[in-house]
Amino acid sequence: MNRSPFFYVGDKYKLMKQLSGYFPHDVNRLIEPFCGGGSVFLNFHAKNYLANDKNKHMIKLHKFLKSYANNRNSFYKKLEQQIKHYGLSASYLGIMVSDELKSKHKKTYYAVFNKNAYKAVKDDFNKNKNDLLLLYILLIYGFNHMLRFNSSGDFNLPVGNVDYNKNVRTALDAYFDFIESNEIVFSCLDFVDFVKGITFESGDFVYLDPPYLISKCEYNKGWDEKCESALLNLLDELNSKGINFALSNVFNHKGRSNEMVIEWSKKYKVKPVKSNYISYYDNTIKEDTTEVLITNY
Ligand SMILES: C[S@@+](CC[C@H](N)C(=O)[O-])C[C@H]1O[C@@H](n2cnc3c(N)ncnc32)[C@H](O)[C@@H]1O
Repeated sequence: MNRSPFFYVGDKYKLMKQLSGYFPHDVNRLIEPFCGGGSVFLNFHAKNYLANDKNKHMIKLHKFLKSYANNRNSFYKKLEQQIKHYGLSASYLGIMVSDELKSKHKKTYYAVFNKNAYKAVKDDFNKNKNDLLLLYILLIYGFNHMLRFNSSGDFNLPVGNVDYNKNVRTALDAYFDFIESNEIVFSCLDFVDFVKGITFESGDFVYLDPPYLISKCEYNKGWDEKCESALLNLLDELNSKGINFALSNVFNHKGRSNEMVIEWSKKYKVKPVKSNYISYYDNTIKEDTTEVLITNY
């Protein structure tokens, strides 16, 4: 499985093995209205791809990496130059944190080492928000690899305990491999406008991973019953046109249930998905989550 170099919180990376078993084969075009970091399309075989997300920063970063599809060495050169320029650690390049710092700050040494350099990157990015390389560096070194902006539009995440390591490099290589050999078009629209703008053809498959109404996540803000209902109506329309779709969702989570989706899903097929909300360290700690894939095929 390819890991996305955006390490998106709530991504489908860990579930892709299960989901792939439920996806149709011989898809001509994969259409993803909520692509996030791209964990699904990166692991899906189709002839063409349409990937959309409302998060403009995410889509800008996808397009930015795509612009280096046939020139990844130039991307790596610029990335590594900036890492050195700001004095960030980079395990992949052998720019290591000292043993002394490691023993003094056992679990946080990257964060301690990179704190000031990260702040300098953040300040420079906030002065020039077109510098997407700096935004990607903020994502690599930031807390939980997240993208977060305040109400004035400034990037405002603290440093994370991570650096440019082998995992990041492997994920970038896999992304470039994928982008180099596949036709993918990105867009940044609300899902309704995105889907309504498509001329559907046979062989299209729509996979949807929207924010979940009953769970909490940064990108769930603004997702309400109205959005959920618009989504379900849109899927009924696709179904009536004979377009195959699969919708990820949760029926129950932490004592709450999504009755609207549960009721609606009765018209379709519901496949169980073993959710990563279950603690892998102690399988007695289950968070009462029923994750599902709802399909019309
Ligand atoms: C669960 S995440 C998708 C994760 C993705 N499958 C992955 O593996 O990285 C849901 C996504 O929906 C996007 N989103 C939220 N509201 C949206 C809307 N109205 N239209 C399109 N995308 C939206 C969020 O920005 C977020 O990236």
